[in-house]
Amino acid sequence: MDEKLQAHFDERGFKKQTAIQEAVYDALAAGKTVVGIAPTGSGKTLAFTWPLLTRVMAGDGIQILVLEPSQELALQTAHVMREWASLLGIKVQSLTGGANLRRQVERLKKGHPDIVVGTPGRVLHLLDNRNLKLKNLKTLVIDEADDLLRDDTQAVVEDIERHTPLSTQLAFFSATSSKQLEQASVIFGRDVVYFDVRKQDQSRGPVKHGLLYARTMAQKAQMLERLSKTKNFRALVFFSSIKTLHYTASRLKHAGVSSATLGGRQRQTEREKVMRQFRKHQIKLLLTTDVAARGLDIPKLPAVVNYELPQTVEEYVHRTGRTGRQGEPGLVVNLGDDHDFRDLKKLLKDTEYHLEKLTIDNRQLTDEKAGANEQGETVRHENSRHIQKDQRKRDHAIQKSIHRTLDTFTKPKKKKRHKQRKNKGIRLKHRRKSQNENK
Ligand SMILES: Nc1ncnc2c1ncn2[C@@H]1O[C@H](COP(=O)(O)OP(=O)(O)OP(=O)(O)O)[C@@H](O)[C@H]1O
Ligand SMILES: [Mg+2]
Repeated sequence: MDEKLQAHFDERGFKKQTAIQEAVYDALAAGKTVVGIAPTGSGKTLAFTWPLLTRVMAGDGIQILVLEPSQELALQTAHVMREWASLLGIKVQSLTGGANLRRQVERLKKGHPDIVVGTPGRVLHLLDNRNLKLKNLKTLVIDEADDLLRDDTQAVVEDIERHTPLSTQLAFFSATSSKQLEQASVIFGRDVVYFDVRKQDQSRGPVKHGLLYARTMAQKAQMLERLSKTKNFRALVFFSSIKTLHYTASRLKHAGVSSATLGGRQRQTEREKVMRQFRKHQIKLLLTTDVAARGLDIPKLPAVVNYELPQTVEEYVHRTGRTGRQGEPGLVVNLGDDHDFRDLKKLLKDTEYHLEKLTIDNRQLTDEKAGANEQGETVRHENSRHIQKDQRKRDHAIQKSIHRTLDTFTKPKKKKRHKQRKNKGIRLKHRRKSQNENK
């Protein structure tokens, strides 16, 4: 790795490269076309950023184009790449749909970016209008590739690829594979090197996958409200239908729960604002659809709620992959009735996810085994005070262990203002003084 990049690597407190970062480095730096599959949160963004930066000459025109499926993800990736590229004087620009087109075009002309990161629709639009020129392109990165190489977007991605020079290196990344990805060499007519480190990667933290019973929409909304009142709870809440999302959002608002929505129809500035607030812990629940399922890196996100359950394993992997990143503990709460849970278990039968029933009592999230046990025993021994006391102790211990998942997430430390420190000093002085007076 370049010296400046290595220094920043140490500064960031990174200890070593993750499995995917080690695996793809040489092949990408050598210009080979690569498919990289690695779990959610395992550092794929930097896995392509570091080796590809070695191929860029600052000021030589657009040399890297990265495609992302959502505006948020394009902005996030541009931000991450910029952090490292700027150390080498390399410029990064984002090209997302939803942003002002005229300003984007102006910035392309005047800013002379070396790397652009965008969403397929906007990128193709700019190419068709000849505002974006890729004659110097060296690498096209297709992140979340199984998603982008599906349905209508596949045609858009292929159109974009047709605008690139014949020798362009391609790089596909995702946490899940697909038929299209396996056939990338046929679709794009190139030799492809495959790296799948899903088994070797160790970056994932311990994540509890729970089932929380709620049958009707009203019950689900009530559960969300109760979840939001448990200690340190913050979550991305996934919906499959926009209508249900809006219904729930208005119920939560009415109940005074700190929440916001992130959806396709909002303006980009609004979407950015909501994401910023959520990252800063100013919002407890962010209600969204699968637009936010992929790639979003929200450090230390304690929980993901599936308000409506996903219909495919891939969807489950990506949605739940927003929590438990880089060794952090996580919690997934699947809401539904017995019928929903049966379907979910069937869907996940070939995976390693272990689903456990949960209940909420007294602002505490508990697994049902503990609850059932408690009831059985207290009924049987209701006259024995001694055993009841013992039971309470045990119950407390179980709740504590389950709660550890959420407890490990602490609120971000507020920046202490100078004034406060000064006040604290005064308060301490007063306290000491009154203590002395009491002596
Ligand atoms: N070598 C490393 N050591 C420690 N942390 C790292 C390392 N590389 C990346 N990270 C951190 O890991 C987190 C997840 O990275 P990233 O978003 O690239 O994951 P991903 O594999 O793309 O996940 P997804 O499949 O969800 O898109 C980021 O916060 C990043 O800063
Ligand atoms: Mg990613």
